[in-house]
Amino acid sequence: MAIVDLQSPAKINLLLNIVGKTPDGYHELETLIWPVDLVDLLSFELCDGLLEPWISIECDDPTIPVDDRNLVHRAVSLFFSEIGETHKRSVRVQLRKHIPAEAGLGGGSGNAAVALQAMNRLHDHPLSEETLHRIAAQLGSDVPFFLNPVPSLGLGRGERIQRLEECQSLTTKWVLLMRPGFGVSTAWAYQQLAYFPDLVKGKPGMATQCVEFLRDNQLTSFFSGCINALEIPVFRKFPYLKMACQFMEGKGALLSRMSGSGSTVFSIWDTCQEARTAWETFQSELGGMGWHYIGQLKGTQVASEAS
Ligand code: C5P
Repeated sequence: MAIVDLQSPAKINLLLNIVGKTPDGYHELETLIWPVDLVDLLSFELCDGLLEPWISIECDDPTIPVDDRNLVHRAVSLFFSEIGETHKRSVRVQLRKHIPAEAGLGGGSGNAAVALQAMNRLHDHPLSEETLHRIAAQLGSDVPFFLNPVPSLGLGRGERIQRLEECQSLTTKWVLLMRPGFGVSTAWAYQQLAYFPDLVKGKPGMATQCVEFLRDNQLTSFFSGCINALEIPVFRKFPYLKMACQFMEGKGALLSRMSGSGSTVFSIWDTCQEARTAWETFQSELGGMGWHYIGQLKGTQVASEAS
């Protein structure tokens, strides 16, 4: 019996530009993906012998499915198929969730990436980085980012990752995440783009231009270039999210946007106190957010061992 404990962080998309459609019907992106210091905790135990069920997941959030709809389950299963060993040993997973689901924060994707890494470690690393990346991309467009969650440029479906190793200039900032009491399905959000043909024709190169601004420490130019094309269809159905972003901008946020396909909206602040005041004012003046978190953006130093 062997155990590995790992943590998977949340991410936000500081920029999400859609530049076309891929032949398989996905959307071609340029996205800046940033890890946040909010983490889920996962523990993986490899047991000798075949228990029933052979993959079992225990999760402290009863709303999250623990069968093969869970990406962790699918990741473990794909790992065993890849190494050609099925139904000889069993896996027990404990999942302590802090990242909400259907939130645009990559919670499930991060858990899946960590599951691949844990399985690889428990088997003494039979799979190469390239193979892990291929399996991760099979599990979901956001999963490859979480194999090494540092600030990154995501291309293609979002699965082609270029690490922005030297981008540290946002690590002193504070981020306020707010999720209403409802989630948004990623597939639904992308489907809505059919009604907004111009949104899939974003100007290529916006993300690299923004990265240049960041490297030159031109934060005002950087933040003004950070757009999210998915906001238009999602805000049309959920105007409350737009209102929340506008509220934060009005209170002086450096940036306020929806993350990924929502439903989380984030805002970036110079100090923790500013973020806290913004949250308290929002709750007293508008209210209605089911969940919030105040923390920091991460840089290149990402610890993956659970503490
Ligand atoms: O890759 P993932 O399974 O997370 O994607 C969920 C859904 O979001 C896909 O089925 C697809 O409809 C949509 N999607 C897209 N373009 C992307 C990523 C996701 O159309 N780049």
